Amino acid sequence: MANETLTIRRPDDWHAHLRDGEMLKAVAPFTARQFARAIVMPNLVPPIATPEEASAYRARIVDATGPGFTPLMTCYLTDSTSQDELARGFETGAWIAAKLYPAGATTNSASGVTDIRNIYPVLERMERIGMVLCVHGEVTDPRIDVFDRETVFIERVLAPVTRDFPGLKIVFEHITTAQAVQFVLQAGDGLAATVTPQHLILNRNAIFAGGLRPHAYCLPVAKREEHRLAVRKAASSGSPKFFLGTDSAPHSREAKESSCGCAGIFNAPFALESYATVFEEEGALDHFEAFASENGARFYGLPLNEGSVTLERSEARVPDELAGVVPFQAGEVLGWRLLA
Ligand code: NCD
Ligand code: ZN
Repeated sequence: MANETLTIRRPDDWHAHLRDGEMLKAVAPFTARQFARAIVMPNLVPPIATPEEASAYRARIVDATGPGFTPLMTCYLTDSTSQDELARGFETGAWIAAKLYPAGATTNSASGVTDIRNIYPVLERMERIGMVLCVHGEVTDPRIDVFDRETVFIERVLAPVTRDFPGLKIVFEHITTAQAVQFVLQAGDGLAATVTPQHLILNRNAIFAGGLRPHAYCLPVAKREEHRLAVRKAASSGSPKFFLGTDSAPHSREAKESSCGCAGIFNAPFALESYATVFEEEGALDHFEAFASENGARFYGLPLNEGSVTLERSEARVPDELAGVVPFQAGEVLGWRLLA
């Protein structure tokens, strides 16, 4: 009897960290094997902040992946981003979106925005030209509990921005809470969200399961079980407001297994397998293709990919290490396997 398979239109990753140099060469092929396109995050050191830097970075990525994969570049917003340069990069195709990192919110965000008001003129321009804003939605106020940073960001930043720029297209990245789901659902069509595999699979207990687990640590940090369930329900609901964004964020084993371990989970090698397992558990495999291959492209106003990929029901064991990085779900057996 033939194995059970699942074939979907070629999918895209709407949030990936591909790094640079040797790490780029080592990790980018995993993303390129799974996805036709990926929104590439600009949080290098120094960040990707000019059209020229984005174009040169794109060329290094294509060099690392070979043809058949399309990197979609982004601009790292700072307090001093020039709206003319941002628009020039958009109009010439150097980048398709801009990324808001609140300064200090996460890995390589030191040059980020210190007060949303500082980029109001930039947001107004983006609204006018139809450029998407990708948002790391966490406040950095040290008085706010780390588990509440997303919820407080909605109140303090996202709600005012959506009110002040009703025509601005915003992707609320890697959502982790019931409040984020609620906010996205009640907002207009201009607000959508990406969902990572880890926030569908882990709750915050995973970070402390039998000891401190650095490979379960990413930002935003995993939340309570009730939040994981709310995010799973939203992602698998069929709503066009939720789509695939892995936030694959590789760090070397040494950088993770440290007295001050980096935030980030490297999930690219088995991303589709992880997501498919979740959709199946939710009884929602019929919504998987929209989540992985349609909703994001439609939100960004890009054509859907041609071609398809096939997953086969079989036991895929995730290796303990790939390219010097410990992948998400290392050592676990997943229920699906992506065919070559
Ligand atoms: C990301 C990284 O390592 O670049 N880390 C993470 O935990 N997600 C940065 C980010 O997206 O927040
Ligand atoms: Zn990220």
